[in-house]
Amino acid sequence: MKTTLFSTHKFEEAHLISANKGNHELNLLEVRLTENTASLAQGSEAISLFTSDDASAKVLEKLSELGVKYIALRTAGYNNVATERAAALDIKIARVPAYSPYAIAEHTMALILALNRKLIKAHNRVRDMNFSLNGLTGFDLNGKTVGVMGTGKIGATLIKILYGFGCKILAYDVNKDEDLVEQYGVHYTDCKTLCSESDIISLHVPLTPDTKHLINAQQIANMRHGAMLINTSRGGLVDTKAVIEGLKTGEVGYFGMDVYEEEEGLFFEDHSEEILQDDVIARLMTFNNVLITSHQAFLTDTALANIADTTLFNLDCFEKLIDSGNEVTSK
Ligand code: NAI
Repeated sequence: MKTTLFSTHKFEEAHLISANKGNHELNLLEVRLTENTASLAQGSEAISLFTSDDASAKVLEKLSELGVKYIALRTAGYNNVATERAAALDIKIARVPAYSPYAIAEHTMALILALNRKLIKAHNRVRDMNFSLNGLTGFDLNGKTVGVMGTGKIGATLIKILYGFGCKILAYDVNKDEDLVEQYGVHYTDCKTLCSESDIISLHVPLTPDTKHLINAQQIANMRHGAMLINTSRGGLVDTKAVIEGLKTGEVGYFGMDVYEEEEGLFFEDHSEEILQDDVIARLMTFNNVLITSHQAFLTDTALANIADTTLFNLDCFEKLIDSGNEVTSK
């Protein structure tokens, strides 16, 4: 089946080609899917998308006119797809529900540790022949309370890691996982209590209308003074401007983010020769207690191989009209 893959990156190309085994005619494009680039899917029955692609209603309508019938997402999240419109247009969508919760949970832990132990500052100092330790004091994670919002695959994996560090774990989720309660002593509570009682808050719920700006000025005011906030889920979970205010007052003591509300068109690309136009992220970059990575939590060789395998499996199933079990139904 002819498939146009938008937003492909060098790091995934070899995995996609190897997983394809020559079955499908793959048209690998680096450009993002937008209203202006949708026409590049001309002649393809299927397309494949990444987090930064825009599959809003208007774009889907254009794709449908071009004859696109299938979308294979190379992601778990699908907040960038107008699923109801897709259903109305009879465009089928499949995703990669799980490719490595370890990759994201471990990156979350890396952000927590790097922020706490000020590893970036320490590294830069040492490279500058400054071996002083002043200003590098961290805290023991052992005994600290960590609030995990969303105890699905990634949240649960993080909880196991945190348990190993000796942390007390609070959780917030619409579904309670009794195994986590029994095995790791997780205490489920509401969002407000989690914010007020946690030293570290880590976000692992999907972005939906219910979770948009879950962390806003009100929740920040509820937080322990100087708490650490980590977001490796989706940028829209956090009101970034409210976090900046919280960082200025010290209410937010550390902020680690792998995802950003306005990341489309910014993350995943080299803008080093340009003038940064986004004043919000520019302000975030001025804080030495903020650590930003460019949506790389998933980026391990295991995860990339799994993403490619599942994406190609989903395309096989589309072609053979078989249910892959990975289909996304409208929200
Ligand atoms: P999952 O579906 O296994 O877990 C999500 C959990 O959130 C579930 O337990 C669900 O009950 C809970 N939840 C949903 N809506 C809620 C609400 N309104 N309030 C409270 N809890 C709610 O998903 P998984 O695999 O753990 O992934 C979580 C998120 O991580 C994804 O939605 C995606 O946005 C993000 N992600 C980020 C990546 C990155 O590279 N930074 C890579 C992969 C996923």
